[in-house]
Amino acid sequence: MSRTKLLAAGLLAALLPLPAMAEGSAEAGRTKISMCVGCHAIPGYKSSFPTVYQVPMIKGQSAKYIEAALQAYRKGERSHPTMRGIAAGLSDQDIADLAAYYGTR
Ligand code: HEC
Repeated sequence: MSRTKLLAAGLLAALLPLPAMAEGSAEAGRTKISMCVGCHAIPGYKSSFPTVYQVPMIKGQSAKYIEAALQAYRKGERSHPTMRGIAAGLSDQDIADLAAYYGTR
């Protein structure tokens, strides 16, 4: 296996053991994105705190990926301060709904 493949497999393994998933509703998610669009819906937007940082596009990523990312921010496994603050205020249901709204299946 190449280094890259090993790395990818490792990353995947780190994301896989997800807690029991709440069933997400894209319809419910639509009502919850007001706190996300300010950063994630602006093409090329860079957040200015703590450093100039490119905000990733989340629309169109897989729902599983978005859910795993939000759970990781909430648990502190991902350390970006802005997203940790946001994710800390989300319930499992919020995360599932947002993932269903933003994600592709
Ligand atoms: C203040 C600006 C801001 C707001 C508001 C915000 N985000 Fe983020 N988000 C960011 C930044 C900056 C990153 C990149 C952080 C990093 O590199 O870890 C990010 C990363 C993410 C990621 C990971 C993307 C990836 O490619 O790994 C997801 C998923 C995400 N945000 C979802 C959301 C959701 C859902 C909301 C609303 C509940 C939200 N964000 C609100 C700035 C914001």
